[in-house]
Amino acid sequence: MQLEQKNVLLGISGGIAAYKTPDLVRKLVAAGAKVRVVMTDSAKEFVSPLALQAVSGNKISNSLLDEDAEAAMGHIELARWADIFLIAPATANVMAKLSHGLADDLLTTLALATPAPIVIAPAMNQQMWAAPATSDNINILNQRGVNFIGPASGEQACGDVGYGRMVEPEEIVSALGEHISHAAKDLQLFAGKNIMITAGPTREALDPVRYITNHSSGKMGYAIAEAAEEMGATVTLVSGPVNISAGANIRCKQVISAQNMLEAVMSDIATQDIFIACAAVADFRLAEVPTHKVKKKDETLTLSFEQNPDILKTVAALKNKPFTLGFAAETNDVEAYARSKLSRKNLDMIAANDVSSSELGFNSDRNALTVITKNSKTELAPASKKVLAQQLLTLLHSEYTATQQ
Ligand code: C5P
Repeated sequence: MQLEQKNVLLGISGGIAAYKTPDLVRKLVAAGAKVRVVMTDSAKEFVSPLALQAVSGNKISNSLLDEDAEAAMGHIELARWADIFLIAPATANVMAKLSHGLADDLLTTLALATPAPIVIAPAMNQQMWAAPATSDNINILNQRGVNFIGPASGEQACGDVGYGRMVEPEEIVSALGEHISHAAKDLQLFAGKNIMITAGPTREALDPVRYITNHSSGKMGYAIAEAAEEMGATVTLVSGPVNISAGANIRCKQVISAQNMLEAVMSDIATQDIFIACAAVADFRLAEVPTHKVKKKDETLTLSFEQNPDILKTVAALKNKPFTLGFAAETNDVEAYARSKLSRKNLDMIAANDVSSSELGFNSDRNALTVITKNSKTELAPASKKVLAQQLLTLLHSEYTATQQ
C-alpha cells in the first residue's frame, strides 16, 4: 500500500466528526502508516485523547507548553518527522488560521513548521462551508498547494443537508495514499538517472514457424518503466513480445529471443545507473534450429536444448555494474529461493513473488512482492502493478542512494 512505513501526522480540530478519528487512526495503522496525533483543545471535547493514544500507540500532543510531550518529541522534530500532515476534521476556524499563517496552538504551529505536504479533510455546517470567508480561505490554501479531501454532501449533525460532512475514514485513507504516490512523482527521485528494464517473455524458435515461450504478460516490467519515467528517470525498456505498449517518453527496444535480449541489454548497459530484470527469460533454447519447417513424419519428436545466457547474472558480473534488481517468481519457499538468487547472481536487491496464486503475478493486473536485500526484507502487500512499481522504486531509491555514499 502507498501508506506502508509512512509517517502520518494527524491534526484533529474541534468538530463533531472528530468522533470518527479513532477509526481513522486504526485504518491508517492497518494500511501500514505510523501515526502521531496532535489535537486542539476543542477536539478534546469531542474525542478522548486516551482512545487516540491507544489506537495510534503514541502519546497525544496537544500543547506547545507541555514539557513532557516536548521532551518526548519537540514540535519542530514532530514537524520534520511527518511525511504528510493530515488535518481531519478541519474546522472553518482552523482553515482560517492556516490561510493566514496564525500559529496560536500546536496544530497550527506544526502546519507552519512542517516541510511535509498538508492534506485537509474539512468538516463543518453547510452554510459555514459556503460562506465567502471560507471560500476565500480555501482558495488561498489551494494556491499554496494544500490538498483537500472532501467535504462530502449529506445530512449533517445539525440537521442541515449539504456540503460539509467529513469524508468517511476509509475514503480518507485511500485518498491519502494517492497523495503520497503523487508526492513520490513530484520528488523526481530518479532525475538524471538512466534505468534499463527488461520485461515480458522471450520466444525461442523450434523451427521457422514454431516457438516456445511462457505466460509473462510484461505488465509488471511496463508498470515499472512507466513509474520510473514519472519519477524522472531516462528509461530504456528491453521487451520481449507482449500485447502492451510503452509510454511515448520510454525508449523501447523490442526483442524476440533471450540471445536478442542479451545483445540489446549489453549494447547500452555501460551508460545505465540501474538495471531491473523483470523479463521471464527462457532458460533454454534449441541447440540447433532447423532451417525448414519440421514435418510430422514420426510418432515422436525429440529436441535437444542448450542453456540460454543469464542476462541478469551477466550484467551483475560486470566490473562497473549498475545497481541490479532481479525478480524471483516462485511457487514455493519464495523467500529462501530469492535469498539464494540474491547471493548467487550477486544482486543488490531482489523482488520475490509467489506465482502459485492465480489472483496475483503472471498475467494479472495485481501483484504482491517481498523485497529483499542483504540486510533488509520488506513486504509489499497486494496492490495494482502500478502502485507496487512506485513502492518498489521508492525502496530501490533509498537502497541505491545508500550504495552511492
Ligand atoms: O534464475 P531465475 O530465472 O529464476 O532468475 C530470475 C531473474 O533473473 C529475473 O530477474 C529474470 O529477469 C532474470 N533472468 C535473466 N536471464 C535469464 C534468466 C533469468 O535475466 N536467462
